[in-house]
Amino acid sequence: MSRIAYVSGRYCRQDEAVVSIEDRGYQFADGVYEVIAVHRGHLVDEALHLLRLARSLHELRIAAPMSDRVLRHVLRRVIRLNKVRNGSVYLQITRGVAPRNHAFPLVAFPQLVVTAQRAKPADPKFLAEGAAVISIPDLRWARRDIKSISLLPNVLGKQLAREAGAYEAWQVDADGFVTEGTSSNAWIVTSGGVIVTRKADHDILNGITRLVVIDLAAKAGLRFEERAFSLAEAKTAGEAFLTSTSSLITPVTRIDGAKVADGVPGPVTMMLRRGLAEHLDRLADGA
Ligand code: PDD
Repeated sequence: MSRIAYVSGRYCRQDEAVVSIEDRGYQFADGVYEVIAVHRGHLVDEALHLLRLARSLHELRIAAPMSDRVLRHVLRRVIRLNKVRNGSVYLQITRGVAPRNHAFPLVAFPQLVVTAQRAKPADPKFLAEGAAVISIPDLRWARRDIKSISLLPNVLGKQLAREAGAYEAWQVDADGFVTEGTSSNAWIVTSGGVIVTRKADHDILNGITRLVVIDLAAKAGLRFEERAFSLAEAKTAGEAFLTSTSSLITPVTRIDGAKVADGVPGPVTMMLRRGLAEHLDRLADGA
């Protein structure tokens, strides 16, 4: 069965879908995106994703191509047409199609593309062992809070991780502090049991999973600090993990080839992971 995509007003076979070569997303990476998890047919934390999408669009002065009500309908239809029960939906909005010129076009209609994909089952061995990360300098622009489709440093960073046999690359700012992964947020648990992740300002993407995990930690009465941590602090932490829509909470057990603590997923990480799984089930149950 061919996958079905929504491409600017039409549902079509994904292998036949086309966009203009003058789409500003293609020419300038002039657009934004979201990835929303689908759990048991339910769009996970959809409202938070749509809020972040609206913010990204606003910051780049791109008009929303449709109301949230219609967008929610399109997302559901793409999920249904692709028979996705567990997986994710990808949506991308670009400024539109216009003759190439850096300045905004006088007339352009924002273009929306939506695709859906099934999740591959998580490898239990990977979860049991945890992930390896490498560190790389953060080469990105100063507005990483905007979920822009301009992802070249992230792509290069992830490739370096792959070539090093690692799962993710943690980007490090000029002062030696970890900003985030190339497609995930970075966390540590200090040896004193305090959960730490960087404050969500312009330096990082404010992950939706990050927000949910902060909420879970607060509800569980766990100690939490929102502050930058250095690469050196991460390497001597009690636990480390990363969060994203697709990776949920993934334990990090090696940084730059060295074990984090005793090199196995930590208890706080695994407790939060279970809490996140329950959160997904609660949403799907409509509770
Ligand atoms: N990545 N930081 C970066 C740079 C990201 O690209 C992502 C998400 C996150 C985590 O955000 P969230 O919890 O909302 O997924 C943090 C998505 C999944 C991607 O690019 O595929």
